[in-house]
Amino acid sequence: MKALVKYADADGALEVRDVPEPVAGPGTVLVRVHTVGVCGSDIHMWHNTQSKSSKGVLPITLGHESAGVVAAVGDGVTGWSVGDRVVCETAASICGVCGLCRSGRYNLCPWREGYGLKRDGAMAEYVVAEPRVLHRIPDNVSFETASMTEPYAVAYNAVVERAPVSPGDLVVVQGAGTIGILALQMAILRGAATTVVLGTEIDTHRLEKAKRLGADHVVDISRQDPAEVVSGLHDGLGADLVVDATGVSAALRQSMELVRPAGAIAKVGWGPQPLGFTLDPLVKKAVTLYGCYSHTWNTWENVLRLFSQGKFRPELILGGVYAIERWEEAFSAMQRGDNVKSALRMPFGFEDSGPLGGESHSGGSLDSGSPIRGSLSDESLSGGSPAAGFRAAGFRTGETTS
Ligand SMILES: NC(=O)c1ccc[n+]([C@@H]2O[C@H](COP(=O)([O-])OP(=O)(O)OC[C@H]3O[C@@H](n4cnc5c(N)ncnc54)[C@H](O)[C@@H]3O)[C@@H](O)[C@H]2O)c1
Ligand SMILES: [Zn+2]
Ligand SMILES: [Zn+2]
Repeated sequence: MKALVKYADADGALEVRDVPEPVAGPGTVLVRVHTVGVCGSDIHMWHNTQSKSSKGVLPITLGHESAGVVAAVGDGVTGWSVGDRVVCETAASICGVCGLCRSGRYNLCPWREGYGLKRDGAMAEYVVAEPRVLHRIPDNVSFETASMTEPYAVAYNAVVERAPVSPGDLVVVQGAGTIGILALQMAILRGAATTVVLGTEIDTHRLEKAKRLGADHVVDISRQDPAEVVSGLHDGLGADLVVDATGVSAALRQSMELVRPAGAIAKVGWGPQPLGFTLDPLVKKAVTLYGCYSHTWNTWENVLRLFSQGKFRPELILGGVYAIERWEEAFSAMQRGDNVKSALRMPFGFEDSGPLGGESHSGGSLDSGSPIRGSLSDESLSGGSPAAGFRAAGFRTGETTS
């Protein structure tokens, strides 16, 4: 089968290869992948800029944002049948017995192994999954939308499960990438009165998208000081919540400036660079800093339910769906900021002629010069880590992709 494989510890060492088809062993299922989202962490894997604390295995098939159908069911698996439409959580393997697993916080299991880093991922025709990670896709949700469950779950975890937003709040989101834009949608859903999205000079297009999705203010920080904007909002004391979705350590200095006394910061973005500034504003303002990582069962179920009810506008997020051979185009469009999100279509997606898959084939071919679905219109979609446990200070920590 075709798979997009990172084959060496070097910039650009990524290619489509023919690899053996996996089989569903006892206790697992085989999922035939229809559509798989491209994540910022996949782009880091392509350029070999993933966190160096994230030691994966090589060669490895990328991809952890998948939607497909059950193609085979291994011995001992109950409750799943061939043909079921599913999405797979990212924690391909967990220990199942540590205190975090036992208390339902398996996203934090130090032995967690994610797809696309330590386990072969879903940028392939088939992926093997434990039934534990499968969720049914509601009938009225397309595969394209379902493939975005994972990044929405990251935003849901940060803005719903971790940090508080009350109706009437002022919420500032730093970063206009996928995670920032989805955090914006989540903050609006929670009833924020005023939202502000910050980006940089590469984000012109994505900041416009943020506005279309309901951001009250967008700021390109290379042109305007966001503190000027935020100090003119509400009572002028700052944001109730700042969500850091930048991936740049220095953004924390800005979060501390923009947050109001007794407010909160949700830190979702990584920051491999060491900090060169004081954290005293956290103390002086008595700010709560939430680290936010990954998601668990309920997060996925809730996001799928919200998709089904049409609470988000995922069609505005997905900028293009590309055949797997055209992965480089898909990755580059996201890297340039042209697409908030790109996705790859597997051969099954082309074959699928069901009511929820067939509608999305129009205009595409494997070797045409444009994405299968570039510049998706509002109406065009139906229904819508790096990391292997390194040891720090004697403790085993988990992965750094979600
Ligand atoms: N904690 C988790 O579970 C989790 C899950 C997924 C992604 N992430 C991380 O979240 C971060 C964001 O992910 P993404 O895919 O949206 O990344 P991205 O690179 O697409 O987006 C980052 C955005 O931040 C902007 N930016 C950079 N510096 C800024 C600054 N100082 N102020 C405002 N904006 C700034 C960039 O221009 C860009 O728009 C990354 O670090 C990613 O690894 C974390
Ligand atoms: Zn992802
Ligand atoms: Zn565990």
